[in-house]
Amino acid sequence: MEAIKDIGSAGTPGSGGFMHELSILSRINRAEWLPSPDQVLARCLKLFAEEDVPVKKIGDVFKVEGGLCSQLLKVANSAFYSHSGRIDDIYHAVATVGIREVKNICLAITMARQFGHIKMAESFDLTGFWRHSMLVSFIADEFAEGRPWIKRDSARLYGLLHDMGRLAMGGCLPEYFEKALQLSRAGNLSLNEAEGALGITHTYLGWILAKKWGLPEPIRFIARWHHDPLEGAPYSREAAFINIADYLANIIIEPYGIMRAMPPSGDILALADIGRNELENYMEKAQDIIKKADVIAQIFDNIS
Ligand SMILES: [Fe+2]
Ligand SMILES: [Fe+2]
Repeated sequence: MEAIKDIGSAGTPGSGGFMHELSILSRINRAEWLPSPDQVLARCLKLFAEEDVPVKKIGDVFKVEGGLCSQLLKVANSAFYSHSGRIDDIYHAVATVGIREVKNICLAITMARQFGHIKMAESFDLTGFWRHSMLVSFIADEFAEGRPWIKRDSARLYGLLHDMGRLAMGGCLPEYFEKALQLSRAGNLSLNEAEGALGITHTYLGWILAKKWGLPEPIRFIARWHHDPLEGAPYSREAAFINIADYLANIIIEPYGIMRAMPPSGDILALADIGRNELENYMEKAQDIIKKADVIAQIFDNIS
């Protein structure tokens, strides 16, 4: 499988590359150029969905997958988590880092591996991508507490995968990703706006990728509609929820410095059952989550 090359003429709609654009779109829709999920990804997704997973069970998954093991030990031995000497035992590492965080690490590394043999766009910041995804995931998890309509595990999963289309763009449409980045910088546009102007968005790619991987419906809809949640029926409420977590994460750290977080409208807040004052109060206690997301994202320094 290879990245789609030669998108030069497709870059600007109306610039004479109409047939070329059509051929890229039809290739995107066939999705044959996107990576196929391996069995570890399916195992991780199953594990993620399970409630009350014992430390032993999750440790066993890491033991079988050697690469996962060393990455988790790295996190467990970081200054943020390790306060009492070196940790070499995987079960001890799981208990130290926490089941929720470990599930996130397991899924993120496995996701990243699906793209492991693909050369990402030069400007794609893999560590930044995962820092952002972890932040959205942890913020969604915290906001889900006390909201019975959304489970915390689900909220975390949605947050972690919401931008999967951006990973697909950076890996499989590298020239397109660079073009969108350039356009956003030159035209003073957000990256989302620049993608929109070029005609292929990370949300559409996320939709196609989630479909190809057979991911559950809510994940597909959230990947597709998290920037326009009011359009995202039948999961518009979940998409609104992630839209808000995404907004907060982008205020905390702006990926590429050009995301220009759009504050959620009153309709989006009402749909997700979140008050504007909750957003303001949240920023004050986000420090711990920022550190946690930072430590975990460091894993991807090695993978990139
Ligand atoms: Fe997004
Ligand atoms: Fe995002």
